Amino acid sequence: MSEPAAPPTLEELAVVRARIADRLSDTARTIAVMSGKGGVGKTFVAVHLALALARRGLRVGLLDADLNSPSVAKMLGLRGQPLRATSSGLRPVPGPAGIAVQSMDFFLQGTQPLDWDGPAGEGSGVRSVLEEAALADLLGSTEWGALDALVVDLAPGPDRLPALVHLVPALGSALAVTIPSEVSLLAVERSVRRAHEAGIPMLGVVENMASSVCAHCGAEGPLFREASTDAIAAHLDLAVLARIPFDARAAAAADAGAPLAGGAGGAFDKLAEAALRGADA
Ligand SMILES: Nc1ncnc2c1ncn2[C@@H]1O[C@H](COP(=O)(O)OP(=O)(O)OP(=O)(O)O)[C@@H](O)[C@H]1O
Ligand SMILES: [Mg+2]
Repeated sequence: MSEPAAPPTLEELAVVRARIADRLSDTARTIAVMSGKGGVGKTFVAVHLALALARRGLRVGLLDADLNSPSVAKMLGLRGQPLRATSSGLRPVPGPAGIAVQSMDFFLQGTQPLDWDGPAGEGSGVRSVLEEAALADLLGSTEWGALDALVVDLAPGPDRLPALVHLVPALGSALAVTIPSEVSLLAVERSVRRAHEAGIPMLGVVENMASSVCAHCGAEGPLFREASTDAIAAHLDLAVLARIPFDARAAAAADAGAPLAGGAGGAFDKLAEAALRGADA
């Protein structure tokens, strides 16, 4: 059996960080989209936020940091696009509105899952080390060029943001996505506390699926029983940056890989404005 992967030494980590910092040296702002809860719309928010920023004339990159279940390429209609490798690195895939996209999806065939185990199954015990190394490779190999904003779509869970900051200590800012249910808010509160402990600057909370938009008449109504997103955000000393309605037309458009410009009632333009204000504060 081969030796299991060991965490990097401090010297190795310094080299990895320097390589990533060099790749991001022309990136003005980083906005990570996180949540302690899965399935609450992180990718939906990250993709629409990136598009809204690009529509304002910004040069935008979008990193899909969910290595196991990458969804960014699907939502942007980019699955199967070839990556171009040059002598200076991997070129991100050009997406709608000119956004530059990088994702593990571009390295995987069809619906093949990412295999961390190797023939003897030795990878499972050190999976987080392997995942962090793979994310470091993705970030450190991509030639982002000059960006006004890099949006990072994280996998669910409270440790994803601190793991990213381990690689990118100067990470600019993050926002937390929740849906207005007590179950989601509990998980999100935990993950925000973890981010606070790690000293990560939080821009605020995005309440997704805050209401529902009728696919027929466009009228807005409640989706979840009223939950206390405001109270939790205030308790965490965070602002609610935007309330995004559940928009069935936007869901279908995201499934079709052609996100709607003004989807979810135009709430993403407001979010883009608030995120820029927070990131530049
Ligand atoms: N406001 C919304 N309106 C319509 N559809 C939405 C909205 N938010 C999310 N969706 C849809 O809900 C599904 C789940 O969203 P998404 O994949 O973004 O969640 P996630 O938090 O990224 O999940 P994971 O934790 O697995 O990464 C997707 O099909 C997405 O298009
Ligand atoms: Mg996702």
